[in-house]
Amino acid sequence: MQPIQTGTKGLDDLLGGGFPKGKCILVVGSPGAGKTILLTQFLKSGALADERGLYVTMDETPEQIKNNLFSFGWNIDKLEEDGKLLFLDATMMRQGSLRRQSGLLLGHEEITSEPRMTVRFLVETLSRIIKEEDIQRIAIDPITSIMLRYDQPSRRRRAMLMFFESLTQSGCTSLVSTELRTSMLRRAFQLEEFLSQGVILMHMFVHSGNVIRAIQVEKMRGTAHDAQLRPYQITSTGLEVYPKDRVF
Ligand SMILES: Nc1ncnc2c1ncn2[C@@H]1O[C@H](COP(=O)(O)OP(=O)(O)OP(=O)(O)O)[C@@H](O)[C@H]1O
Ligand SMILES: [Mg+2]
Repeated sequence: MQPIQTGTKGLDDLLGGGFPKGKCILVVGSPGAGKTILLTQFLKSGALADERGLYVTMDETPEQIKNNLFSFGWNIDKLEEDGKLLFLDATMMRQGSLRRQSGLLLGHEEITSEPRMTVRFLVETLSRIIKEEDIQRIAIDPITSIMLRYDQPSRRRRAMLMFFESLTQSGCTSLVSTELRTSMLRRAFQLEEFLSQGVILMHMFVHSGNVIRAIQVEKMRGTAHDAQLRPYQITSTGLEVYPKDRVF
């Protein structure tokens, strides 16, 4: 299987060349871990290689995401203008959103006239956009808030599975971010980690008074990968993994 370049320096080395094509991979991390940066680097590297990307924003609007990334100087607007990177604003799906009366926005265009708040509706809309716009890479950032609408674990599991299966069937390579609910190394696994085909964990912890950032490929079905904790940094140029270094 041909690996898909991750767009993050050093990460391809942990994965034996890149993400497995067509798979749905979960990026789990605490607040500020760099999930949005990692997802953007993935879409950007695709866009620069003429693989169209779709960024689905669930918590922050595309404008907010772009503002936060502005300091990296990536010229996201240009990629969007050239049609290589599309943004779908799905913030109206959030519980308690002030935008609940409007539909999903693809760029500046409202593509759904009547808001229907189900996950199934979002999944169907995504499948349609992927086909119509010939999308090859997709980022969902984050999946956490739409899954909060399911109190019952069994319903939540079903919705999550439907979401992941639909992304896989679309043929796209997908990254889905989710919040790490505990930052300890010895932690309980989260439901979505069992259901996705690959899991990348972004840890932040304090060791001898220093904050340490470490990344770990927890699983990648069908691929031999490095499962060690490896250090990473976020600098003025973006997020970089140090694949040969050890954390402790
Ligand atoms: N120009 C920069 N130089 C160095 N570090 C930066 C820069 N810009 C952002 N950062 C770091 O990146 C972090 C934010 O990364 P990002 O938005 O990708 O995190 P996230 O995991 O998506 O967080 P959240 O869960 O809140 O969405 C900041 O907390 C900061 O530590
Ligand atoms: Mg984020």
